[in-house]
This record gives sequence, C-alpha cells and structure tokens, in this order.
Amino acid sequence: MAKFISFCSQKGGVGKTSITTHVATYFYQVERIPVAIFDCDFPQHSLQSIRTSEIERLKMDEGFLRKAEKLGQTPYPIYADSVANTLPKLDAYANKNELVLIDLPGTLNVEGMPSMIQRLDAAVLLLEADPLSFESTMHTVLAMAKFSNKNGGMVPTYLLWNKFDSRERKDRYSGLEQAAINYLDSLNESRKTPMNVHFMEHRIPDTVAIKDTRSTLFPNAVIKPLIQELNNIFASNS
Ligand SMILES: Nc1ncnc2c1ncn2[C@@H]1O[C@H](COP(=O)(O)OP(=O)(O)O)[C@@H](O)[C@H]1O
Ligand SMILES: [Mg+2]
Repeated sequence: MAKFISFCSQKGGVGKTSITTHVATYFYQVERIPVAIFDCDFPQHSLQSIRTSEIERLKMDEGFLRKAEKLGQTPYPIYADSVANTLPKLDAYANKNELVLIDLPGTLNVEGMPSMIQRLDAAVLLLEADPLSFESTMHTVLAMAKFSNKNGGMVPTYLLWNKFDSRERKDRYSGLEQAAINYLDSLNESRKTPMNVHFMEHRIPDTVAIKDTRSTLFPNAVIKPLIQELNNIFASNS
C-alpha cells in the first residue's frame, strides 16, 4: 500500500521542504523504496526548484554528473501542482507499494485541504522551540483533529522537533512537550475518541549539515535516525 505522508506546519521556515527532501532521497537511494513527491506548496514550489537547480548543475559540473551517474537509478519524480489538482492524482498510488511525500502549503485554508488531510497515513508536524512556533503548531493539531481519516479517527499525527539546540536548557524541550501533552489530555477528556498525537523521540539537530546536504539526488546520513523511527512507525501502523 502507498503511504501518503506529509511533513507540515502552518508557519514558514520550520523545515518542511528540507526534511521532506532529505527523507525522500534517503528512502529512495539508501532504503531503495519507490518514492514520489507532490510539491503542493504553491506558488513557491521550492522543492521542485531544488530539483531544477540540481538538473542545471548536472549540465554544467562534470564531477557532479559523474557522482550522480554512480547512483545507478533515475531520480524519483517530483510533481508540482495545487492541492486540489493533486488529489485525483493520488488515486493512481492507492495500490502501489510506494512512499508518497506531499509538501503542503503553510495554511490549511486552501481548496482541497480537508480531503488531502483525510487521505494522509501520517502527518508529521515540525516544531521549533520558540513560543510562537509552538503555539501555531498546537493550533494546527486542533485543526487537524477536526478532519477524520478513512478509519473515522484522527490522521495519525506526529510532533517532531526540528532545529533542536542541544545547548539549550535540558528541560526546555521536555517542559514544552509535557505542557502540550497536558493540554491535549485536557481536551481529550471531552472527546469521544482521543486525538491521535504523539511526540517523536528523535529531534532533528540544528546543523548546517541539514542545509548543506539537502538534495533530491544524494542521500545524507544526517537524516538516518529519523528514517529509523519512521520505519518503526510505518511498521506499527500497517
Ligand atoms: N535542522 C536544521 N538545521 C539547520 N537549518 C535548517 C534545519 N532545518 C531547516 N533549516 C533551514 O531553515 C530554512 C527554512 O527551511 P525550509 O525547509 O525551507 O522550511 P519550510 O519549507 O518549512 O518553509 C532553510 O534555510 C533551511 O536550510
Ligand atoms: Mg517550504
């Protein structure tokens, strides 16, 4: 079965495009899983722009081309279109064993978004430790809780710290996590079915390696711990 996954957030600059790119390339090139990306973040389509600039570089830089040839397989496809236009295209993946990553716009207020969220097998919300970003993610969680998926429950939603700063006070992250859990627990008391929200164990470090090695062609081990945790999640959800 295809897995429809989205790394999302309602705030820009949190790392959606970077993490989607790293995850797609690692699964495709290292784990050898078929991958397709739908870049629905109109009008930037920044994920597709990364691919376009890499293709340009292949034409100009022989060393880069030789390195790419060694990968031994053509790159995974990246389709750029609106959320509404992408929805019917997902049907073709329903019976494929493929990982489909969808880079969504930074707002839920877009045509087709409720149907898109309902189709996801998992939403990974990226979090930063500043109060505004954290609060906006909590709003997203509540908005997502309103859309039930094909099983009638909330789309499995994972909260993932990005740009994790290990020099911060130890309790900064765990304190925010506990506050979020308490808040969600209090809301769950008045819900028939509890929200399906979990913090991921891995925290993606704030490192230039994430910036510098972001590629739709070449995988980078900086993302490996996240891939391992995602594999565990996919295995337990299927
Ligand atoms: N873990 C990280 N460490 C360092 N820089 C990061 C990290 N994740 C993202 N960035 C940087 O943050 C900026 C915004 O990331 P981007 O993926 O474009 O966010 P979004 O798609 O959510 O707007 C980019 O400059 C990117 O290189
Ligand atoms: Mg982006």
